[in-house]
Amino acid sequence: MNVFECIQSRASAIRLGEPGPTREHLDTILRAGIRAPDHGRLRPWRFVVLEGDARLKLADAMAETLRRKMPQATEAQLAAERAKPMRAPTIIVAAARITRGRIPEIEQVAAVAAGVQNMFLTAHALGYGVMWKTGDAAYDDHVKTALGLLPEDHIVAMLYLGTIITPGKVVSFPLEDALVRL
Ligand SMILES: Cc1cc2nc3c(=O)[nH]c(=O)nc-3n(C[C@H](O)[C@H](O)[C@H](O)COP(=O)(O)O)c2cc1C
Repeated sequence: MNVFECIQSRASAIRLGEPGPTREHLDTILRAGIRAPDHGRLRPWRFVVLEGDARLKLADAMAETLRRKMPQATEAQLAAERAKPMRAPTIIVAAARITRGRIPEIEQVAAVAAGVQNMFLTAHALGYGVMWKTGDAAYDDHVKTALGLLPEDHIVAMLYLGTIITPGKVVSFPLEDALVRL
């Protein structure tokens, strides 16, 4: 698959299963993440890899976030939240750690987002299914600290990776909608 085919055939998977990326493939995916453009070479990316039982840390923190936000949440709702990180064998939480100074914060977050897309495309080229998720949990300090991040870090993506069970559909939009003409 060449780079054009890779970009044009990319879609979020609907359902993922075991196995996740092999050690070697995970290494290739993470290395793609740190090959993104990065203003000032600040290397703002921090990646937390969760596999197996390590996903429970995220699961518990997500359920706790929901409980605090919605004290009336039922046990079933909390269980559904806790089940979310189990939707994929491997999760890469990609966060931006900001260096205060000359380079605007948004550019450092953009560098991490570019790294996430690099990882998405690399995983896709290797034949894995991918989902880019965030949700309330991604903005919660408790979740960040449970993952070894700092409260001031920005979680840019929770990248779910695994074997495709149900593939997503490629949806194309008219290019015209994206163009601003003068
Ligand atoms: C920063 C960011 C956060 C996202 N968070 C979520 C999310 O929490 N839940 C979700 O269903 N989709 C989320 N998405 C969107 C999906 O990952 C997906 O890209 C979108 O639904 C379009 O589908 P496609 O990837 O197949 O083109 C997010 C995308 C981005 C860029």
